[in-house]
Amino acid sequence: MRARFKWTAPEHGMSRMSAGVIIGIESTAHTFSFGLVDSEGHSMPSCSALLRPKEGGIHPREAADHHADNSQLLLARWLEQNGLNLSDIAAVSYSQGPGLAPCLRVGASIARALSQSLKVPLVGVNHCVAHIEIGRERCGCVDPVLLYVSGGNTQVIARLGDKYRVLGETLDIGIGNMLDKFARDNGMSFPGGPKVEAMAKQWLKDNPDASLKGLELPYAVHGMDLTFSGLLTAAKGLVDRGAPLGAVCWSLQEHSFAACIEVAERALAHTGKSEILLGGGVACNERLREMSEIMASERGCLSSVPEKMYCVDNGTMIARLGWMQLKHVGPTALSESGVEAQLRTDQTMICWP
Ligand code: ATP
Ligand code: FE2
Repeated sequence: MRARFKWTAPEHGMSRMSAGVIIGIESTAHTFSFGLVDSEGHSMPSCSALLRPKEGGIHPREAADHHADNSQLLLARWLEQNGLNLSDIAAVSYSQGPGLAPCLRVGASIARALSQSLKVPLVGVNHCVAHIEIGRERCGCVDPVLLYVSGGNTQVIARLGDKYRVLGETLDIGIGNMLDKFARDNGMSFPGGPKVEAMAKQWLKDNPDASLKGLELPYAVHGMDLTFSGLLTAAKGLVDRGAPLGAVCWSLQEHSFAACIEVAERALAHTGKSEILLGGGVACNERLREMSEIMASERGCLSSVPEKMYCVDNGTMIARLGWMQLKHVGPTALSESGVEAQLRTDQTMICWP
């Protein structure tokens, strides 16, 4: 741990010099997490608690209770893990949206309480933009096309001017939700994505000459947009008709990932950019990473993806974006600190290089 940092006041908003770290609080959905960056914006691992429902999907109220119940212990663990005291916190960053409103409110309330009691700046950030910025920091990308694939979101994004523009996205459910639902229907617990990946990998190992014949699924690319619910229904149909579960997991990944990579490739072609960056929980998937690398190398581009702990929801990405906003925009006034459950990627002004 690079303990005790010098904090230099940013150009705007921060009126005093202080030493310390920026704490980032993530609470948009199933994960409650505290993360941090030092005064120079360097990221360090988060301390997280993931809600794993015994049955069914994520219930917003249940997730909010999980976050509130875990907050005190998790904060103590975060302090201990990093060898910090509360007085080392120079600013508090939190996910302002998008996400499940009851969950967002828990994170925002803790952020406000910490900021006020410690008398340090508060900064509310866009969760989707945080997925992008942590990837840029970890991978050293300059101006990538981002394939943001998580539970709730599937977007192909590129920076044009002062916004991250959404060039293509899912028209129904997020790819991660699709994998989670398929997994749940087939007896696999949340989060389902890693279990589908493991089943697909094992099946391919046992069937090295695998072919998609008889395992075809809809290929749901609509211009620059995507859909996944038809794919989910069709995959369930294959299982119902007796196809081996591992084979269907494999086919589901092949079809859904290829669709995402195709749209991302078109975004690279349209924008003329030469880097692709993967982000969001589904970017943990080895097969998706491999497909992205193949596509990028065929185009003479670079494919990057941060470490898995920075792909899934984490407090550190919130701290990193908070650090950037404090430096280039300034803190969030208490009167402006309410949560925004429907906040979109392209609603946040990007005021940094
Ligand atoms: P967002 O609010 O950005 O939509 P989220 O709430 O979905 O994020 P993330 O942690 O970014 O949270 O992503 C979780 C999703 O990632 C889950 O749907 C999970 O199944 C999926 N996932 C995690 N690991 C893998 C993997 N190895 N392969 C496929 N999917 C994965
Ligand atoms: Fe996320």
